[in-house]
Amino acid sequence: MHAHVILAAGQGTRMKSRLPKVLHLLLGKPMLLYAVETALALGPERLVVVVGHGASLVEEALRGYPVEIARQEAQLGTAHALLQAEALLKDFPGPFLVTQGDTPLLSPKTLKALLAKVAEGAGMALLTVELENPTGYGRILREGEEVLANVEEKDASPTLKAIREVNAGAYAFDGFLFQALKEVKNENAAQEYYLPDLIAIYRAHGKKVVAVRGVAEEALGVNTREELARVEGVLLARLRAEWMKRGVRMVLPETIYLEPSVELAPDVTLWPGVVLRGRTRVGEGCEVGAYAILEDTILEPGAKVQAHTVAQGAHLHGGADAGPFARLRPGAVLEEGVHVGNFVEVKNSRLHPGVKAGHLAYLGDAEVGEGSNIGAGVITANYDGKRKHKTFIGKQAFIGSNSVLVAPVRVGDGAMVGAGSVITHDVPEDALAVARGRQRNIEGYAKRKREEA
Ligand code: UD1
Ligand code: CA
Repeated sequence: MHAHVILAAGQGTRMKSRLPKVLHLLLGKPMLLYAVETALALGPERLVVVVGHGASLVEEALRGYPVEIARQEAQLGTAHALLQAEALLKDFPGPFLVTQGDTPLLSPKTLKALLAKVAEGAGMALLTVELENPTGYGRILREGEEVLANVEEKDASPTLKAIREVNAGAYAFDGFLFQALKEVKNENAAQEYYLPDLIAIYRAHGKKVVAVRGVAEEALGVNTREELARVEGVLLARLRAEWMKRGVRMVLPETIYLEPSVELAPDVTLWPGVVLRGRTRVGEGCEVGAYAILEDTILEPGAKVQAHTVAQGAHLHGGADAGPFARLRPGAVLEEGVHVGNFVEVKNSRLHPGVKAGHLAYLGDAEVGEGSNIGAGVITANYDGKRKHKTFIGKQAFIGSNSVLVAPVRVGDGAMVGAGSVITHDVPEDALAVARGRQRNIEGYAKRKREEA
């Protein structure tokens, strides 16, 4: 039984952003939620998030998560931030876990190891890692397992700066925590209340402070855009590796972007540069062509998306294919065997089995019956400047190239529309509609013009 506090009140000045640092996205999800989910994985009795900078935005991002909120009105340092949780936790006996909202790669297992140290009798345990480049982190001084002190970058002499073992920003404490926090002073280069000063305070009270050594990757903190990109790269690499283990083929995997919310099946092939976002689901055996972007899109087994297609909220049934260069917008449903080719845009439209729209068309708010053919350049004119209207095309219809179907309008089963028509009235079943100027040939006209000149 333990309580957990996540510090997330800082502005993140080094990000150079209006957005509070902990809300910057990693694979489409705010960084803070990684810390929250890791904390929840251990089933804490209480989970408090300390917010401050951009508090209302941060609280909004936490909506729906079982967390309590403490506010830090002025950002006076990490120890001061932790003290803001006291009002909520004053009757909690401990132990406590404390982590930072900007350290998203920490694992639940590591946090468990910290708690175990406190259970074994340490007053305080902290995670340390050894870094190639420790710049920016607190440096750790220790003797065996015991930690003597932490020195922040700003306060470190050149000799101390050479130390490569650093404080990862994850701690476990016994019930003495809030009492100890009151002794933290801000006599340092930053004039901030440093949480790691608790090391010295615990020791002064005769309590043992120990280190748990972790792997460098887990401790990666995000203070800059560069670190954000690095952490995102780690998450992405893990995600790709996991899907490949489960049978997904990725060609040049390092060029493929996908989010944790995406679901893939065995024998899916993803070509280079593919982007898969949101609640996209790709079924068994599907292929996604190079540089296609799929967001909240479902590909049933056997569907295919060709290169450079952009789909958002679309649903492709088995045997349907789209692209190259197709644009599928929300509500585009391509049933079995539908083919949507290059420069075709489909929005809020259902294309029944076997429909072909091979080139350069716009189908919006339309229903197209089984087996119908949509010629190049066909447009459903669905908007009258105020409202959207529907176009119904029956089964086995043939809509000639460059026709405009002015909605609301219906084309019956088996009907044909002559190329270049502007259809403003319903077309009966099996009829041919031609709605364009009749062709007139003027014999010899071109020749006469040429000779006049
Ligand atoms: C902190 C540690 C450093 C450690 C590093 C690991 C301190 C003083 N230093 O440095 O030893 O190596 O993390 O990543 O603790 N925060 C608040 N309120 C504040 C200040 C910060 O809530 O007043 C929050 C931030 O939102 C952030 C976390 O605390 O999530 C850490 O703050 P940050 O300023 O990033 O500390 P570092 O300089 O990285
Ligand atoms: Ca940090």
